[in-house]
Parts: sequence; structure tokens; C-alpha cells
Amino acid sequence: MLDPDRIPRHIAIIMDGNGRWANQRDLPRTAGHVAGETTLFDTIDRVSDLGVAWLTVYAFSTENWSRSDEEVAFLMAFNESLLVRHRDHVAERGIRIHFMGLVDDERIPANVRRQMRESEEITADNEGMRLVFAFNYGGRADIVQAVRAIAHRVEEGSLLAGDVDEETVVGSLMLPDLPDPEMVIRTSGEQRLSNFLTWQSAYSELVFTDVLWPDFDEQALHDCLIEYQGRDRRFGGAADE
Ligand code: IPE
Ligand code: IPE
Ligand code: MG
Repeated sequence: MLDPDRIPRHIAIIMDGNGRWANQRDLPRTAGHVAGETTLFDTIDRVSDLGVAWLTVYAFSTENWSRSDEEVAFLMAFNESLLVRHRDHVAERGIRIHFMGLVDDERIPANVRRQMRESEEITADNEGMRLVFAFNYGGRADIVQAVRAIAHRVEEGSLLAGDVDEETVVGSLMLPDLPDPEMVIRTSGEQRLSNFLTWQSAYSELVFTDVLWPDFDEQALHDCLIEYQGRDRRFGGAADE
């Protein structure tokens, strides 16, 4: 049984395994992304129903540009159409959408960037769950832009180098309000973070499941939460005797 008092405030998900799901069915990789769409929006509803305050999903990494031109182009158009088709439903549920990543990158087609901005604007006053799409996101890119912003402040004299602390760094990240995720889920059996939430995941519980993203159903989410609730979060303290 899930303990309602130990539901994470922030869940972050690395949605992985779409290509393998498609390969297993002799379908093109893109069919796996299409299959993952239902999973994504069902998961958003389920997580929001659990009362989670923040959900971050890894949609496109700064490394994903290395895929074939065809797959990259597909993912750009697909992410745009997915936003257009689902954002009313998301908005009706009171969910607020954010994009986190190098969103001004000119490799992202202009119409996709516009839809991203519009989705944020349309949902800006919503007070329900915050839904963060990590898009053209990399944890290292986030830290680099934070370091640059801090260096600028030091250079112009508004900040002393010796006063830079963790709070200064957090305040300069792409989404400073984003709390650290209590749990990071990765589907598909891979056990790595792939440049996801590098700063914020320092003390996250990492939950890996073999389920491929298109198959990540209510039971799979439940299993991850059970695993999370069974963990002893010590934060450097001593284990209970
Ligand atoms: C995750 O599935 C989706 C994105 C990275 C956009 P993959 O496309 O990485 O699927 P696999 O890892 O090749 O199976
Ligand atoms: C991580 O998955 C990125 C997203 C889910 C968007 P990848 O499939 O790109 O990661 P690697 O290449 O296996 O590390
Ligand atoms: Mg993958």
C-alpha cells in the first residue's frame, strides 16, 4: 500500500526505451515515440492525481541532436503537435507548463519555439501541478549558463566571488524554483542519468525499471513509488540501528 504521507513533492522521469519498443515490433523508431505519447499524458494525469507538486519529464537532451536528421526532425515536429493536441486538457486540469533547456537554440524550428512559449503563457496562471518539459536540456548546460550568469555579476561588481554559495547557484539555474526531485525514475533498464538534473539530483532516490516507456502503465508507476517509499533517505546521517 502506498503511504499518502510519503508521496514525493517532485518526480522526475527519464522516458527511455521508445526505440527498443518499436524495434521489438519491427516498426520504425518513430513509432515508439508515438506510442510513448499516450504513456506521457496518462502519467501526467496519474501523477497530478497523486498530489505531486512538480513533474519533470526528459523530452529531448542536448545530446539527442546526434541522432539521424530524420529522427531529430520527427521529434521536433512531434513535440510541437503533442503540445498543441494536449495542452487544453492539461490546462483544464490546472497544470502549469514550463520548458527548461536551451530553448532559444536556433536549431529548434521557430514554430516549435513559439508553441513552447504559448503553452507556458496559456497555463501561466494555473495553480495545480507544475509540469516541466526538459527540452534541449542538459544538466551540464544548465550549470554552465549559471556559472556564466554568476561570473557576469562578479565582473560587474554586484556580487563578491567569496559570497557565491549553493543558494547563488540554484538561483542562477534555468528554473530556480524547481525543487530537487525526491525520486528520479528511468525506464528501459538503463542505469544512468544521461545529463539529467545534474545539480538537482544530488540526493535523489534513483529508481530504475526495465519497463520500456510506451509500456509504463499505472502498475509500473505504482511499483516505482513503492520502491521509493521503501528507501531510507539519510542525507548523510547515520543509519538507524
Ligand atoms: C527515449 O527513447 C525518447 C528520447 C530520447 C527522445 P529512445 O528513443 O532513447 O529509445 P531507445 O533508448 O533507443 O530504446
Ligand atoms: C535520455 O535518453 C534522454 C531522454 C530521455 C530525452 P537517451 O536514450 O538519449 O540516453 P542515452 O543515450 O541512452 O544515455
Ligand atoms: Mg534511449
